[in-house]
Amino acid sequence: MTSPSSPSGKSVPRQVTVRAPGTVANIVCGYDVLGLALHRPFDEVSVALNDTGEVSLTVDGDRGMLPRDTEANVASAVIKRFLEQTGQTEIGAQVHLRKQMPLNSGMGSSSASAVAALIAINHLTGNQFSRKELLPLATEGERIACGNAHADNVAPALLGGVVLVRSHTPLDVKKLPCPDHLQVAVVHPHIDVPTRESRKILKPRIPLPEAVTQWGNVAGLTAGFCTGDTALIGRSMTDVIFEPVRSMLIPGFYDMKRISQKCGALGFGISGSGPSVFALCESVETAEAITAQLTEFLRKAGIDSDAFVSGINMNGAEVLSEG
Ligand code: HSE
Repeated sequence: MTSPSSPSGKSVPRQVTVRAPGTVANIVCGYDVLGLALHRPFDEVSVALNDTGEVSLTVDGDRGMLPRDTEANVASAVIKRFLEQTGQTEIGAQVHLRKQMPLNSGMGSSSASAVAALIAINHLTGNQFSRKELLPLATEGERIACGNAHADNVAPALLGGVVLVRSHTPLDVKKLPCPDHLQVAVVHPHIDVPTRESRKILKPRIPLPEAVTQWGNVAGLTAGFCTGDTALIGRSMTDVIFEPVRSMLIPGFYDMKRISQKCGALGFGISGSGPSVFALCESVETAEAITAQLTEFLRKAGIDSDAFVSGINMNGAEVLSEG
């Protein structure tokens, strides 16, 4: 197989390593429509082209938990879809997923793998697609991983920053401006809450008064990010529909909320589908105080956890090396 060339005619590398970040989906009130990118945790995917015409997969860091079948593992599956949809099935690829994010954590672990894989294969085949153009395939990765093609993790992992998913059909996303001093404290209690299960328990219908409250908050949060009004951001981080249900899966959720508010968080809630919780803060010091106190609270309750403090990652996934 000859090395593919980019639209500019330049030859492109044969192997690349890409890092894609964890994400906080929903940002409390925006179920399936808002998400933000973190600097850490992250996943890394290396892809090397070869002449086999097959996609193969190796994985480390997942303690054997992820599927090795190339159709079922999200990193290899999206690469196969990419090559099929672009008519490049003669290309072979060796995919290595270096899993660094905890599984079923609510920090967008599957979306980080899918996004890193897609950016890698796009890079190796001449960067024919923009990041926005990769979004439908990345979203398809979520369907493979959890049965539902929501875009509020993959969109910020691809584009960086805070992203609004206005529509899924067709996909219509908008990266929002956001104040650059914001910090995110994320605490991941070591309990297993698969997204598939955490979606199943939600009520299928919403009473009108709750819906009105919720869309007021989604609009308020969007306006707060766009105008840099942190008080409005804080007031809007309220979820009257999903949090009351999902919080039942997270021991001590309301105690952790009280602790975070006392420490000065702008807002606090479930990260994605949980069990991770997060606080949006205006300083590293506040974020670190919150992670320390929540970790200690969980320890006393007999629950191990890990914690991350991160600014908002404005760039999303990045190419680490190529050759
Ligand atoms: N919006 C999705 C959910 C995110 O809340 O189920 C999953 O991480």
